[in-house]
Amino acid sequence: MKVAVLGAAGGIGQALSLLLKNNLPAGTALSLYDVAPVVPGVAVDLSHIPTDVKVEGFGSKDLAAALTDADIVLIPAGMPRKPGMDRADLFNVNAGIIKVLAEGIVANCPKALVGIITNPVNGTVPIVAEVFKKAGTYDAARVFGITTLDVIRSEAFVAELKGLNVADVKVPVIGGHSGTTILPLLSQVEGTTFTDEEVAVLTSRIQNAGTEVVNAKAGGGSATLSMGAAAARFCMSLVKGLQGEDVIDYAYVEGKGEDAPFFAQPVRLGVNGVAELLPYGELSAFEQKAKADMLETLKGDIKEGVDFIVG
Ligand code: LMR
Repeated sequence: MKVAVLGAAGGIGQALSLLLKNNLPAGTALSLYDVAPVVPGVAVDLSHIPTDVKVEGFGSKDLAAALTDADIVLIPAGMPRKPGMDRADLFNVNAGIIKVLAEGIVANCPKALVGIITNPVNGTVPIVAEVFKKAGTYDAARVFGITTLDVIRSEAFVAELKGLNVADVKVPVIGGHSGTTILPLLSQVEGTTFTDEEVAVLTSRIQNAGTEVVNAKAGGGSATLSMGAAAARFCMSLVKGLQGEDVIDYAYVEGKGEDAPFFAQPVRLGVNGVAELLPYGELSAFEQKAKADMLETLKGDIKEGVDFIVG
């Protein structure tokens, strides 16, 4: 198996690559690509960790070599936001980056499972899909926006609030990956209940957790370590699916369009990516209203991504 990380020398990329070096199955090739000249050094650094995962670094001119025959491609490349910015403010700078990388994937590993972290995820995932469509190689089952950070944050915050063992807490999160489009389904959390006030406060905290990190880093960027952990966790779900295990996880995918063309929802993963789109179950009245209120924003974010390629 070969896993490629595009943007491997950045804050997310380095954390993610470290976790992958330690957790990917023995014999996996880990391909690290970045335009930053430090990337060969990051690869050498990781190669000193004694696991049976072979790491190789690729610089700006070697995108093709980094991607050739990759089974999974993870993309954290791009600019992070600063205090006062919304994820949508990153569109102009990150859309071009993601387009070039998607074209590289189309040319060198069109069958790879692609996990996109680059913000704004609500719009960058449609960009990747449209690049594939233009080339005639699109398979919606293979393109994922990684929303796992919303899931792990929800698990952490619920466990903290309710004094639960975090390993036992599961929180479905649907929608998108920005502000109100992030919709945790607290009504479906097993083993605890929430007052209306707790639901309102917790939902808002989960939706604004990225901003909490951006403000705490005070100009030093956005979440890197928790995002690296989230992306590594999602990558291991993709790996298990490729290995034939039955895995269910949440991701932002092109679904049946009942809510929006792209929507974070539960999916069954298999050897070809999404094996089955799963229903997200019943919503409380609070969640139904929150979903109805955010769909226009989400659809606008998606359209911006589609229009970037289609015009
Ligand atoms: C996050 O959720 O932390 C990331 O999407 C980064 C950001 O800008 O919030």
